[in-house]
This record gives sequence, structure tokens and C-alpha cells, in this order.
Amino acid sequence: MEKDTEEWFRNWFDSPYYHLLYKHRDEDEARSFLDHLLANLHLPENADLLDIPCGRGRHAIYLESKGFRVRGMDLSPANIRVAEAFASKNLQFYVHDMRQHIGSNMYHGIFNLFTSLGYFKWAHENLMVLKNMVAALKTDGYLVIDFFNAEKLSNDFQPQTTREVDGITFHIQRRKKGQRMIKDIRFTANNRNFHYEENVLMISKAQFESWFAAANLHIDAVYGSYDLQTFMPESSERLIFILRKK
Ligand SMILES: C[S@@+](CC[C@H](N)C(=O)[O-])C[C@H]1O[C@@H](n2cnc3c(N)ncnc32)[C@H](O)[C@@H]1O
Repeated sequence: MEKDTEEWFRNWFDSPYYHLLYKHRDEDEARSFLDHLLANLHLPENADLLDIPCGRGRHAIYLESKGFRVRGMDLSPANIRVAEAFASKNLQFYVHDMRQHIGSNMYHGIFNLFTSLGYFKWAHENLMVLKNMVAALKTDGYLVIDFFNAEKLSNDFQPQTTREVDGITFHIQRRKKGQRMIKDIRFTANNRNFHYEENVLMISKAQFESWFAAANLHIDAVYGSYDLQTFMPESSERLIFILRKK
């Protein structure tokens, strides 16, 4: 695939400022979410698991500590460099674009966590990613997708917010363009002005469901929060699917 240097997600997630702005999305949050998930999934001992995209590895590292064999993959070389400090025999990290082939019949479980779809210019690329993940799963293997609840996000739309983290003030402007939510993120750090963009497809539950049918995935359960409360379309923050490969 041609490398598109205009792809916003190559720049923003590779920058240290992404990690500063989302500092609260930390290891504690990952551990607590995974404790709830693992109690609900019936994974074999020593299962082979994939965390994609893994960011700096907060979920993959915890999964390995639970006795699983884990791989983490992410597009960002900077993220993988940080994660690699934790690599071991049962924990490997790779730079990889999830739009490319991921593997065949390898994993008992794949985790796609914290809003890690919907980035791409073309909607069909999301289905392509789902199909890549399905191909990499063993039959009956689990796919967990954790996305935002587009209905609530749209209803609670806040055009402008600021957030101060470690002395840096992030000015965030939001706009809707068609089915996409675009965030302009501006801040000054080390006497330089920065401007990054987040541009994510607001994927509805119905849209996900039609992709799952096309990708041969069965929906086991749908939750609305990291402690796995029932999904409520108008009030849940998250939209979390537990899926199985048919
Ligand atoms: C919101 S972060 C979530 C990361 C991780 N799941 C977590 O919870 O910390 C999204 C991640 O997707 C990665 N990413 C974006 N596009 C990708 C692609 N095409 N293939 C693989 N990773 C990608 C980014 O580099 C970033 O680390």
C-alpha cells in the first residue's frame, strides 16, 4: 500500500503529545478493563493473544503477566519502541499496519481497544481490517472491539474544550463533517505552536453489526463501559463488542 503522508493517524499517535493529552488512559484503566473481560472470556490457558493496535502496550503487557502468549502490533514506530522495553519470550511487539494481512488461524483472542477503528479515509478499510483480524483468529476465537458510543458522543457534542496537562494547555475544537468527528488540537510547547487533527468515523452500532455479518463474526455480548455494564444507546460512554469467529 502507498504510504499516505497525509494520513493524520500516522502523525498524531506517533507524537509524545498524544500520550500527554490522554495520560489518564493509563495502565490502571487497562488492567481493570482486562480483569473484567478475562472473567467473561473462556480463553484456554497459555492462549495466543493479539493486541492490535497496541499503542505503547498497556494491555499487551498486562495480558502477558496473566500467563498468555501475547503479540502487540501498532503502526507507530515510536509506540513500538517504548513497548519493546517490556518484550520477553511470551511478549513480542511489531510495527504493522492493520490494513495489511495480520496472520492466518493463529490467535485465540484479538483485542482492538480504545477507539482503534474508523481512522481511515475510506469506510471499506474498516471492513478490510475486520476481515484481516478474522483471518488471524482461530475458529471460535474471540475478537473484542472497544469503540466510543457514537450516539452519545453526537448528543453530547461540545464544540470547544480545553485541557491542561503537565503545564501544557490543549485547545480542542470539534466539528462534525458527514459521519466523521473531527478534532483540531492546538497547543504551544517548548515555544512552538502545534496543530494536530483527529478525524474518526462515528461508527454506529448498526454499521458495526452489518460489518460483523460480512466478516463472519457472531456477537456474543455488547457492553457499555469498562466494568461491562449493559450497553444503553443514549447514555453509555463505550460500545464494547465480544465477538466470535464462526
Ligand atoms: C487510540 S490509540 C489506542 C492504542 C491502544 N489500544 C491503547 O488502548 O492504548 C490508537 C492506536 O492505533 C494505532 N494505529 C493507527 N492506525 C493504525 C493502523 N493502520 N495499523 C495499526 N495501528 C494503527 C496508532 O498508532 C495508535 O497507537
